[in-house]
Amino acid sequence: MRGTVYVYRRAHFSASHRLFDPNLNDDQNQVIFGACSNPNGHGHNYHIEVCIAGLPDPNTGFVIDLKKVKQIMHDRFLHKVDHKNLNVDVDFMSGINPTTENIAIAAWNQIASYISEGKLYSVRIYETENNFAEYRGEAS
Ligand code: NI
Repeated sequence: MRGTVYVYRRAHFSASHRLFDPNLNDDQNQVIFGACSNPNGHGHNYHIEVCIAGLPDPNTGFVIDLKKVKQIMHDRFLHKVDHKNLNVDVDFMSGINPTTENIAIAAWNQIASYISEGKLYSVRIYETENNFAEYRGEAS
């Protein structure tokens, strides 16, 4: 019996951000976003975890060669966010409040169409060890 296998690739990046609603003042943003609304920003050591689902190729045994996934993650996402300010330095985050949820959606959109074997199944962004968001590309 053979069925779908889920393969994962993880990576790290460091970035700064500020969570805020531009329509609210600093005090109001502090109430909603807490320390993450610090007006001058702050950093996180993020992790990204990408999952690809598919059938292993009968010859290679791979769903997708993870070296390819590593390269796509680097070129399409990590290279653009690592050691950057997510509010101002990253073209695909422009105008987006850089919550863990929104980073996961943005990473999906950067990567999904480049996965040539199997299908992108999920993208997880870990902002801390205990706080993370997963996106599966589903419409609401
Ligand atoms: Ni934060």
